[in-house]
Amino acid sequence: MKQDTKIIAAGRKDSWTQGGVNPVIQRASTIIFDSVEKMQHATKNRANNTLFYGRRGTTTSFAFSDAMCEIEGGVGCALYPCGTAAISSALLSFLKTGDHLLMVDTAYEPTRDFCNKILANMGITTTYYDPMIGAGIKALIQDNTRVLFLESPGSNTMEVQDVPTLAAIAHQTDITVMLDNTWGSGINFKPFDYGVDISIQAATKYIVGHSDVMMGTATANEKHWPTLREHSYLLGQCASADDCYLALRGLRTLGVRMRQHEKSALKVAHWLKSHPAVDKVLHPAFEDCPGHEFFKRDFSGGNGLFSFILNRGDDAAIVRLLDGMRHFKMGFSWGGFESLILKVNGLDRLRTAKPWTETGTVIRLHIGLEDVDDLIEDLAAGLARLDD
Ligand SMILES: Cc1ncc(COP(=O)(O)O)c(C=O)c1O
Repeated sequence: MKQDTKIIAAGRKDSWTQGGVNPVIQRASTIIFDSVEKMQHATKNRANNTLFYGRRGTTTSFAFSDAMCEIEGGVGCALYPCGTAAISSALLSFLKTGDHLLMVDTAYEPTRDFCNKILANMGITTTYYDPMIGAGIKALIQDNTRVLFLESPGSNTMEVQDVPTLAAIAHQTDITVMLDNTWGSGINFKPFDYGVDISIQAATKYIVGHSDVMMGTATANEKHWPTLREHSYLLGQCASADDCYLALRGLRTLGVRMRQHEKSALKVAHWLKSHPAVDKVLHPAFEDCPGHEFFKRDFSGGNGLFSFILNRGDDAAIVRLLDGMRHFKMGFSWGGFESLILKVNGLDRLRTAKPWTETGTVIRLHIGLEDVDDLIEDLAAGLARLDD
């Protein structure tokens, strides 16, 4: 089955849709049984998409998590109330006091904060590594290293990692490989084909796709699924039926949305590249992006999120640029249908393995589904305001 067909067909079991196209929204805390036998059956199968207790999921969440597995791969998908909960729960499921974690330097800021503020207090140490380290990761592995965490492309600066090389080295010593696959969104990067054990997404972004739901997912291979499922459950992680319904509805249009996001983003990125106020464009599809060769080798497409570096503009000029935008509004959570613009702050603090040396202001864009010519016109006017 081709990917677009899979996106439509995934998770649509008759028992969940009950004659409709979409799954029934089953809101439930208590599941009731009218015989001891049925209750015992549910108890025995409670971890395998059988109605048992609301926190273990209902028809709607089963349909969504099954669809995620069918599309992204893996044997099971745990659901969380947001992407950050998926990241922290996956890490907590595989780390204990005395363990060591290898975390990519370009991780999403709260992922880094979780390591520094929570894991550190539990006696779990973190070493940050250069996203371009490749086979050099071997030298950073300690006897107590238990997890290698990747995010590719990296947050804001877009470096693409050599996932198969990193995963192969980690597996030589039985280290669990986790990837924040939010940018790849489960369709443009297939984590399990490249050695990832657990693939995490802020489904809040492209899966939901409409900026109206918070949702996290973690899909796992056979070896890691039982621990991830059980530990996430014990941490109390679950997602509401209504949110699962909306996430699944968003998922159905993921393929077509992504192609449009990618096409428009590339047009904007190329336009920016030749703009006199722009120093560099940070986009995995561009040859000068670190790891571009891995993007070409491992990804089947891109999306609407990338950054660029300005070569001019003091603080007041940047405010003039941002305040006057017509279509690009300022907002943090990307992946919806709308365009967004953001000044990236703190890269000097957020890169410790490989210090950030660029001096220009970094601007992150999310290119939405508006007409791309309107977006370019908006950016042209904004960049002109830098020189006002
Ligand atoms: C790469 C990445 N991972 C994880 C998250 C966290 O997702 P959530 O906002 O759903 O907690 C984000 C949010 O911006 C993100 O960009």
